[in-house]
Amino acid sequence: MLTKRCADRLDQALVRVAQQEFDRLSRGHSQPELRKRVSEGLGSLGGLAFGTPADYDDPWVALLYLTWYFPRQVRLAADISASMFDSRRDGSQPLWILDYGCGTLATLFGLSLARDRRADRPPIGVLAIDPSEQMRRLGLVVWRTSPELVDNRILCAPRKEDFMKRLWSQPTYSTETWFIAMHAIYEENQERLSSIVDEFQQKYSPTEMVLTCNSQHEKRARKALPGATSLSMRDRRVHVLPRITKWRKDLGDQLKATPRDYLERTVDTAVRSPVILRRRGAK
Ligand SMILES: C[S@@+](CC[C@H](N)C(=O)[O-])C[C@H]1O[C@@H](n2cnc3c(N)ncnc32)[C@H](O)[C@@H]1O
Repeated sequence: MLTKRCADRLDQALVRVAQQEFDRLSRGHSQPELRKRVSEGLGSLGGLAFGTPADYDDPWVALLYLTWYFPRQVRLAADISASMFDSRRDGSQPLWILDYGCGTLATLFGLSLARDRRADRPPIGVLAIDPSEQMRRLGLVVWRTSPELVDNRILCAPRKEDFMKRLWSQPTYSTETWFIAMHAIYEENQERLSSIVDEFQQKYSPTEMVLTCNSQHEKRARKALPGATSLSMRDRRVHVLPRITKWRKDLGDQLKATPRDYLERTVDTAVRSPVILRRRGAK
């Protein structure tokens, strides 16, 4: 669950990383160049509303994604993770997760926020994959510099075999497996995702498979995950992130980037009409 306190910490972490990334990206560039890059980035993300994937290889797109969509996705991931943690039969078993299309690692933050931090919690290994190095890199910067938001029993990036090896000294040899793909299905990768889901099912017999998307992609997602049921969000609270809202507004004022209103909107954790599909496997 994303509490007000966690949203506040997320807000602070985002401003810190966003400013650092902005300073890095703007070095040596003139104001008009920066205006152009930011405006192009906003335009690219604007296409998402029409189902067009953004240019995630562009570092400015990654930065603008982090400061707008990321907090919503963290809330979504925390909500879904909480449901899945609640239904685990054996919560003491280690968990290994493939996070397909991980972007800036919202799933990892959601998992962290959804479970309590008792030291005896079993470890979780997450293989977070994404074709965009820019998205993953920026997410990792937040992950590595925000210990207050991160569960240190969650190990980012191990392959299942490596994760199991790390646990070998412990008495638990079995590991539960989940597959998660949040808002990472498009026309272009629909078939590929379907075959990854099938292969994953055969190879690992996961206990949970979850696909999320916005309503535009629902048909695609249902095709990729046949037999899934719909979940609705349990936690209705929405939090506003005032610091990153101000940071974006200041960026707009400073650069006069367009569309200006994209930088003037309030950043919050409200996920617009999410489709959440869940297929549970045998325990
Ligand atoms: C809307 S973002 C979602 C990121 C993250 N899952 C989240 O919920 O914040 C979509 C992500 O899907 C990734 N993506 C695009 N095409 C992909 C593909 N063919 N395979 C895997 N990921 C892909 C993009 O690079 C991007 O990071």
